[in-house]
Amino acid sequence: MTSQRDLKVAILIMTIFLVTGIICYASFTPPAPENPVRLMFQTKAGKVLFTHSVHAGDYTDDCQDCHHNIEDDETYNCSECHEDKGDEDLPSRADAFHAKCKGCHEDVGAGPVECNSCHTL
Ligand code: HEC
Ligand code: HEC
Ligand code: HEC
Ligand code: HEC
Repeated sequence: MTSQRDLKVAILIMTIFLVTGIICYASFTPPAPENPVRLMFQTKAGKVLFTHSVHAGDYTDDCQDCHHNIEDDETYNCSECHEDKGDEDLPSRADAFHAKCKGCHEDVGAGPVECNSCHTL
């Protein structure tokens, strides 16, 4: 016969399992950052450290200055479209980055335009 006490113990154990499960679920699936702090790009020419949240905050407040596609497609990943090899219609990933990054630095007259001031590492 199941006693009242056994039932309480069973419910307690089940509750512990449930709570543990919820905590594990919450801690192992962190939400994607909305505005990543910094990104490091690995390239053949040396790594580039990009201060994303400073750029998307202090240097411009318009995400679309860089994520020019974001309205029709919710991807933040440039290489989803700009692949290693490009053509006249769609620049390669490296060409797209150089045009976008250097282009703005030249336009505003601030920020690195020399190869080794971006490819620092
Ligand atoms: C100065 C250019 C620039 C601006 C402005 C900018 N981003 Fe980004 N963002 C990038 C680049 C470059 C990447 C890297 C994409 C890649 O690796 O293909 C990126 C990546 C991301 C990612 C994905 C990060 C990851 O780890 O995959 C998110 C999310 C994001 N940006 C959100 C935003 C939001 C929200 C804004 C506006 C508040 C914004 N960005 C403004 C350049 C910019
Ligand atoms: C959903 C697909 C898609 C994504 C994602 C995308 N692009 Fe593009 N991009 C295109 C297409 C298509 C073109 C060519 C047509 C045009 O100029 O709009 C282009 C053109 C460009 C150009 C050259 C034309 C111009 O505006 O000066 C640059 C630079 C560029 N992209 C940079 C980026 C960067 C940087 C990212 C990521 C932050 C990015 N793109 C993400 C599709 C995309
Ligand atoms: C909308 C204009 C804009 C775009 C696009 C842009 N930058 Fe900048 N960047 C700036 C400005 C403004 C500065 C600050 C210059 C200063 O204060 O001396 C800067 C500074 C930098 C610096 C110096 C260190 C720092 O973080 O302040 C690096 C490195 C840099 N940018 C890399 C990049 C890369 C890589 C990209 C492309 C993914 C990019 N930038 C796109 C405007 C831009
Ligand atoms: C404003 C910053 C900046 C400047 C200035 C700059 N680069 Fe880059 N470069 C980048 C970024 C960002 C990427 C793309 C990284 C990626 O694809 O993840 C890149 C990609 C590259 C690649 C592609 C490597 C690969 O793995 O496919 C080469 C090569 C390169 N750059 C060489 C140069 C040379 C040479 C110069 C000078 C003429 C230069 N870069 C100037 C930021 C810069």
